Amino acid sequence: MPNTPPADPSGRRTEVHVAGVTKSFALRSHTVAALRGVDLHIDEPGFYAIMGSSGSGKTTLLHLLSGLDRPDAGTIEVAGQRIDMLSETGLTRYRRHRIGVVFQQFNLIPTLTAIENVALPGVLDRQPARVGQARAAELLEALGLADRRHHRPDAMSGGEQQRVAIARALFFEPAVLFADEPTGNLDSSTSDQMWRVLHDVVERFRLTLLMVTHEPSAAIHCRSVFLLRDGRITGTFDVGTSDAAELASRAQQLGW
Ligand SMILES: Nc1ncnc2c1ncn2[C@@H]1O[C@H](COP(=O)(O)OP(=O)(O)OP(=O)(O)O)[C@@H](O)[C@H]1O
Ligand SMILES: [Mg+2]
Repeated sequence: MPNTPPADPSGRRTEVHVAGVTKSFALRSHTVAALRGVDLHIDEPGFYAIMGSSGSGKTTLLHLLSGLDRPDAGTIEVAGQRIDMLSETGLTRYRRHRIGVVFQQFNLIPTLTAIENVALPGVLDRQPARVGQARAAELLEALGLADRRHHRPDAMSGGEQQRVAIARALFFEPAVLFADEPTGNLDSSTSDQMWRVLHDVVERFRLTLLMVTHEPSAAIHCRSVFLLRDGRITGTFDVGTSDAAELASRAQQLGW
């Protein structure tokens, strides 16, 4: 049966459904059609990539999925919730509670320690500090950072900072995480560790993790890849045992 939500004892929904989504930007002299009818469907939790070259619309799509901007047309449903119709307040609640976002530049607050950064969503949500600190400590432990909890970002490695950012994204137990080139600022051996961390997070918290990237060498870590070209999804395939070269050549065959 199509669109049947996966059974999850906690009732969390991990699907992502995008249908007919368009988005244009009006400039002074002309209009740029960044997304021209995007269709994308994820039914099962797991690690997925949207791969596209520069200017294909990756960031625009990620902004729509994470509720930072709205589509001109089409529907977006994430974790069981239609978000294209939400009010501003609804979108704020969605961003804070239903999803998590991980950025290339980590986006930690430099003056706060690791545990304070992770607990920040709870502070913004006016949770009792004690509850937030306990949750943050638990997440730092899960990400292997218990001994870094009182370090500020500038006293941590890039890989540690990204793990703090992932812990922060998990604060409210989202069913769906979005990531924008999460290893883009890491060296290759730290990136390899980060792929293991991300896989572990997907398994342990039973999430959908959807990443955007322009690198076949990043996309091979995912279960399936959606190809984005000129604002449309032009192909989808399972990664299986492909290496980066095979993935790039399959992408090329699909007109990437
Ligand atoms: N705020 C904006 N105003 C005008 N044009 C925009 C805006 N945001 C994006 N665009 C245009 O929309 C298209 C898609 O941009 P987008 O940033 O989504 O691409 P991208 O795939 O993320 O590229 P990159 O890999 O370089 O980050 C581009 O032509 C871009 O110039
Ligand atoms: Mg971008």
